[in-house]
Amino acid sequence: MDKTTTFPLSLPGYEIEGLIEADAPRLMPLFQSCQDYVVLERGHPPDAAVALDEFRSFPPGRAAADKFVFGLKSATGALAGMLACDRDYPQEKSWWIALLQIDPTLRGQGVAKALCGDFFRWLKTQGADRVELAVFAENVAGLCFWQGQGFTLVRTAGPVAIGMKQHSLQVLARPL
Ligand SMILES: CC(C)(COP(=O)(O)OP(=O)(O)OC[C@H]1O[C@@H](n2cnc3c(N)ncnc32)[C@H](O)[C@@H]1OP(=O)(O)O)[C@@H](O)C(=O)NCCC(=O)NCCS
Repeated sequence: MDKTTTFPLSLPGYEIEGLIEADAPRLMPLFQSCQDYVVLERGHPPDAAVALDEFRSFPPGRAAADKFVFGLKSATGALAGMLACDRDYPQEKSWWIALLQIDPTLRGQGVAKALCGDFFRWLKTQGADRVELAVFAENVAGLCFWQGQGFTLVRTAGPVAIGMKQHSLQVLARPL
């Protein structure tokens, strides 16, 4: 994680900010407005741990040096979305998306699609050739979104315990 790694964004009025753990409180309004997703994920409303977890949880064998948390920053400085990911997981040249979330007031306008398009273009310039992620089987909307971005099923996994919930996972991937 660092403040200096960012990528060019094609969305007018927004820019990408590299976030570090000290920025976690700035993400709380976003997690509050995305409460439905937090409840789906954890079974309880957002608390201070949800934002911190994005900076402190890593895939097996990975650490902070390969974790990137990008904020979608509006002209006012507010964070209207976020993209958390891990470099070179599960293998070299593959990036793992841990979380993409967009403020509900901005959804359905192509923001996530544009953000992903710009992110994937930048990843290619970094030498990556694949992106992988896991969607909760319960997150039908999330699954539709990723399938629309060209992701296909690699395998199913779980159950995994998150907060008060048990989740089956759909692991999806796409080449860049
Ligand atoms: C999933 C999410 C990131 C989509 O963000 P968004 O900005 O509304 O998505 P976009 O407007 O860019 O939509 C892009 C495409 O996905 C489709 N899509 C988006 N949300 C969808 C939904 N709820 N159901 C079905 N399709 C959906 C759109 O129809 C659009 O299709 P098109 O390109 O054919 O027009 C957003 O709803 C969100 O933050 N959800 C909560 C967190 C989450 O589930 N994240 C994904 C798991 S990590």
